[in-house]
Amino acid sequence: MDRLVRANRVEKRASSIGFVRFFDDYPVVPRSNIWTDTGTGSFTDAKVYVVQTSTKVIQRCILMASDPGDLVMDPTCGSGSTAYVAEQWGRRWITIDTSRVALALARSRLMGARYPYYLLADSSEGQRKEAEIMRSVPKSYLTHGNIKHGFVYERVPHITLKSIANNAEIDVIWEDFRTRLEPLRAELNKTLGQHWEEWEIPRKADTDWPEAARKTHEAWWGLRIARQKEIDASIAAKADTEYLHDKPYEDRSKVRVSGPFTVESLSPHRMLAVGTDDQFFDPGKPTAPSRDPSVRDFVTMILTTLREAGVQQGDKRERITFTSLNVWPGKMLCAEGRFMEGETERRAGILIGPEFGTLTKPDLTAAAREAGDAGFDVLISCAFAYEANASEFNSLGRLKVLRARMNPDLHMQTDLKSSGNLFVVFGEPDIGIERTEDEEVRVRIHGVDVFKPSTGEVVSGGPEDIALWMIDTDYNEESFFVRHAYFLGANDPYKALKTTLKAEIDEEAWTSLNSEVSRPFPKPETGRIAVKVINQFGDEVMKVFDIS
Ligand SMILES: C[S@@+](CC[C@H](N)C(=O)[O-])C[C@H]1O[C@@H](n2cnc3c(N)ncnc32)[C@H](O)[C@@H]1O
Repeated sequence: MDRLVRANRVEKRASSIGFVRFFDDYPVVPRSNIWTDTGTGSFTDAKVYVVQTSTKVIQRCILMASDPGDLVMDPTCGSGSTAYVAEQWGRRWITIDTSRVALALARSRLMGARYPYYLLADSSEGQRKEAEIMRSVPKSYLTHGNIKHGFVYERVPHITLKSIANNAEIDVIWEDFRTRLEPLRAELNKTLGQHWEEWEIPRKADTDWPEAARKTHEAWWGLRIARQKEIDASIAAKADTEYLHDKPYEDRSKVRVSGPFTVESLSPHRMLAVGTDDQFFDPGKPTAPSRDPSVRDFVTMILTTLREAGVQQGDKRERITFTSLNVWPGKMLCAEGRFMEGETERRAGILIGPEFGTLTKPDLTAAAREAGDAGFDVLISCAFAYEANASEFNSLGRLKVLRARMNPDLHMQTDLKSSGNLFVVFGEPDIGIERTEDEEVRVRIHGVDVFKPSTGEVVSGGPEDIALWMIDTDYNEESFFVRHAYFLGANDPYKALKTTLKAEIDEEAWTSLNSEVSRPFPKPETGRIAVKVINQFGDEVMKVFDIS
């Protein structure tokens, strides 16, 4: 208590005493579990997804619960807000979504993102900044740019009652000044005929005081103020420091973009499940002619929706609208759909893929044979996902094969289903392989083929519908390694980024990334290359080429 009094931190009230706390003692407010400031963040973020989360909320959660270099996972990616924020704060991330639309949005959001450059603690600039803040000599140990050491953060003092009470230096300062203050007080009291205690000495001298008293008074106050300054400095020096983890120092001369990341899509998988008759069944099998009522319900629901929605293609005008769609008692095929090709009526065999899982190429082939044998003109297969190599299967004899991807919305209750894009055909990419004079290979993408129900032709659409195409220039038939990536897209999604990076951009490199023609590359050692094309909806197809 004595120390607090000496430090001038105790205030007399009517019938109690109080602790004098200054705003500077702790100029921040700890967060509680009620966040009233996060509502505004949602309005300032540009919305790209209807259920996009405010980055302010995600940022706070990430900063509270992790350190730089940690791994953050969000299994419901949406527009990728978690990845976007994690990337900003130097956290690694994994994010997952069932919707390809979400993944396509997240990919382009990250690709176009730009971030401030925060000073790393483990860097020579960081060491210099730290020394500047702490008024010390910069550390000179070797730095490695390891993000796990964190950033250089702004900090604030955290002066507490406890830290003042425990600060023994205050006694030393007080004692030192006492020996000089006390004689002055005694002299002042004597000259003025007073018995003032220290705290009773008025701040201002009266004009009618004798000259000697005014001088002593001034000298006393000079020392009194000096003592307070020394005590305050001691309090500040001994106080705890709180780091402001949301306020790292920035190097404003640098702009940062997202680090490298990959987007992995569904790999073919099959699983066993137990049916209502307690027997194992393989839900990877097409579900058409089943005696299991739950499976029949699924197919009935899909057919009802297909009858109303038709099949959408990349080019919106080329929708297949059925004039009739009726159950067909096939082995693989479950319905017959009729539609008009100009004046001629055409018949389509319908295959519905598994309710959960991926449609395999053998099943697709079997369905095509069945459709061919039954004299159908077109096979329309509807599945949530296709085995990668199924994407090359486009016809069998005169039978055209259209692979429609079903929207995962179809898993939902009827009233939640949106009406658009429930069945979308993403056609075969139209790709040319060219040789350069140096015996190197170059790939050219012309667009994506679209089936025209009005004429029955397959025509090539332009490259506008393609968001991204990638090449594995040495495909091992197991995994697709992105060795080249090109970003098309009509409304250049990276324009903002390009504008920001104006000074840094290598115009030639940029143009080569926004191109329908690849950079040349050596012939593959495996003898094969693979080209993956992704449209604006996030649908993807892969095509493999033999290059000998
Ligand atoms: C509310 S949104 C997330 C929004 C996100 N935080 C953002 O800022 O954009 C939920 C997401 O979860 C996805 N989703 C729903 N069920 C899923 C599942 N079983 N596995 C993975 N993702 C799922 C949906 O497709 C949707 O994009």
